Amino acid sequence: MIVYFSGTGNSRYCAKLLADRLGDRLADSVPFIRDGIAAELFSDTPWVFVAPTYAWQLPRAFVRFLESGSFNGIREAWFLMTCGSEAGAPEGHNRALCAAKGLRYRGTLPVVMPENYIALFSAPQPEQAGQIIAAARPALEHAAALIREDRDFPPIRAGVLDRLKSGPVNALFYRFYVKDKPFTVSDACVGCGKCTRDCPLGNISLREGRPVWGGHCTHCMACICGCPAAAIEYGKISRGKPRYQCPEYPG
Ligand SMILES: Cc1cc2nc3c(=O)[nH]c(=O)nc-3n(C[C@H](O)[C@H](O)[C@H](O)COP(=O)(O)O)c2cc1C
Ligand code: SF4
Ligand code: SF4
Repeated sequence: MIVYFSGTGNSRYCAKLLADRLGDRLADSVPFIRDGIAAELFSDTPWVFVAPTYAWQLPRAFVRFLESGSFNGIREAWFLMTCGSEAGAPEGHNRALCAAKGLRYRGTLPVVMPENYIALFSAPQPEQAGQIIAAARPALEHAAALIREDRDFPPIRAGVLDRLKSGPVNALFYRFYVKDKPFTVSDACVGCGKCTRDCPLGNISLREGRPVWGGHCTHCMACICGCPAAAIEYGKISRGKPRYQCPEYPG
């Protein structure tokens, strides 16, 4: 079973491609996360966990979903982490996560997809994003082939700096940067409520037709990138930047 978490669609795209190639089922972690329900899943095919990289680790919300859930049946688990450039040194944590769940860790594959983090960096324009997605294709096909052939993903070569980024820098990032206070909404907002439905954490509600953020954000960028009116900004840093959303996987 392919189990995924996604903010702006890259990881959903990759999960769907893997499901297609492996003829396997897909499970979205977001409804469990949003409703605070511990997942109870069974699979007689390998577990493949697909999620973005947040500060050189799996997203905390997805880690909590994995920690709290039960994943029964097959004990083999592969991880595919989409990223804008590099995933750092996530293997130690992913291996420990597997050990805690009684799963056999079979490796983590970082796959470069378009950058979505407009609260810090810039996202590519659609044409460039399309090229990045096309360039990711061989890595995704290779991942599917390795899983199908019951082979481990290759180990990630990580140095001291990578371990620092995935360790203490990750902790500092969540402590000091992952906040929803800087989100603002302009008069362009049409009160459609899409942002409330898109938030994987259920952190947004509408008050008098305008979104209000509830203080439990994980910076997935779904709200700001998915607003059809481009009415949301993150302080000044997101101004003028393209809003990124991955196209749906065809098929
Ligand atoms: C909060 C946050 C942190 C991120 N951290 C990293 C990172 O450490 N390394 C990296 O290469 N990309 C990083 N990115 C980029 C995303 O991992 C990448 O764009 C991913 O494919 C988005 O997946 P999604 O569309 O499924 O949400 C980050 C994005 C966000 C929103
Ligand atoms: S998605 Fe955009 S337009 Fe719709 S309610 Fe949210 S901020 Fe307003
Ligand atoms: S508030 Fe926006 S950025 Fe934060 S978790 Fe929800 S959708 Fe993602």
